[in-house]
Amino acid sequence: MASVSISHLPLKVRIAVFFLSTLMNISRRRNGTLNRRLFDFFDLKAPPTPNPIDGVMSSDVTVDSSRNLWFRLFTPTISTSSTSLLPVVVYFHGGAFSFLSASSPPYEAVCRQLSRSIPSVVVSANYRLCPEHRFPSQYDDGFDVLKFLDLNGDALPDIADLSRCFLAGDSAGANLAHHVAVRVCQEELQRVKVIGLVSIQPFFGGVDRTESEIRLDGAPITSVGNTDWMWEFFLPDGSDRDHEAVNVTGPNGVNISAMNFPDTIIFVGALDPLLDRQRKYYDWLKKSGKKAEIIEYPNTIHAFYFFPELPQSSQQIYRVRDFVNQRLSQMK
Ligand SMILES: *[C@@H]1O[C@H](CO)[C@@H](O)[C@H](O)[C@H]1NC(C)=O
Ligand SMILES: *[C@@H]1O[C@H](CO)[C@@H](O)[C@H](O)[C@H]1NC(C)=O
Ligand SMILES: *[C@@H]1O[C@H](CO)[C@@H](O)[C@H](O)[C@H]1NC(C)=O
Ligand SMILES: *[C@@H]1O[C@H](CO)[C@@H](O)[C@H](O)[C@H]1NC(C)=O
Repeated sequence: MASVSISHLPLKVRIAVFFLSTLMNISRRRNGTLNRRLFDFFDLKAPPTPNPIDGVMSSDVTVDSSRNLWFRLFTPTISTSSTSLLPVVVYFHGGAFSFLSASSPPYEAVCRQLSRSIPSVVVSANYRLCPEHRFPSQYDDGFDVLKFLDLNGDALPDIADLSRCFLAGDSAGANLAHHVAVRVCQEELQRVKVIGLVSIQPFFGGVDRTESEIRLDGAPITSVGNTDWMWEFFLPDGSDRDHEAVNVTGPNGVNISAMNFPDTIIFVGALDPLLDRQRKYYDWLKKSGKKAEIIEYPNTIHAFYFFPELPQSSQQIYRVRDFVNQRLSQMK
């Protein structure tokens, strides 16, 4: 296995990354099930905060209790005095489609920051997880959250403007956001208009190994051994990684050329084995005639945004804020 140096990172970050990788590893069983009790013991869920923290309040909204589909809603209190409406950011958390939730502390923090900094109303979707629920459950849940918003706009505060929605996600959540964006193009929604996609270190794959997967295979979290396991228990039996959900830029992927696909900003880290696939996604969006930009951070690992002590974490939030505001001004 190649070795990837992360010695430039603060000790605390290195310990946390090691812990997270190990926890994911030991929670997975060889027979394809997950030891959720073990993982959830360490994933201390954060409750919603009806009393604002850092100028943002949050609450949980049920979409469909029969499949435990809900979202955490973040509303900034700071700008509710202004008369202008706020954009809505629908966020999909990462975790290989298998781990974490909208109430996991790193996502509480990320969504709260997005809500405050942009400012925006953030809808953080809690979708079903695999391997208990495989493809396409996650995509169905993601799109159903948008359909719910389309029909139940009053579930959001009055300042939320559904005609200016953004989809956002990290890792598997960015894969999910891509597929939800495609569905939005295919099925007309009434009130919800998606005008941008924020794709943070999207989790894509394919049968062939890329150069960065080979070169960076010792990197935490997204090493090839981990990602192979994740895809195997996400995809339907008998599929390989050139499935349209995984190799979106391959021949099985949906051709978006003729679609009104939203403008996209992609964030990548140079120490993420997924780097080449993410760059390819960018090239493919451009080739498909879409507006896209890619922000590449040197010396940066997968899931860097879990760590506020890393400078890229706040740089990224500000870059997202600029992207959103740029799109908003183009809509005027
Ligand atoms: C966990 O890590 C060990 C050592 O790297 C590896 O041999 C094993 O296959 C991993 N387990 C799973 C379920 O991926
Ligand atoms: C997988 O292994 C676990 C632990 O050994 C066991 O409890 C579970 O029933 C097994 N599940 C399947 C589907 O084989
Ligand atoms: C995607 O699929 C195509 C066709 O099977 C293959 O040539 C390509 O290498 C795949 N991409 C990746 C990144 O594996
Ligand atoms: C995608 O569709 C466009 C027309 O909408 C077509 O011109 C293009 O060749 C297609 N691309 C691929 C790779 O099939």
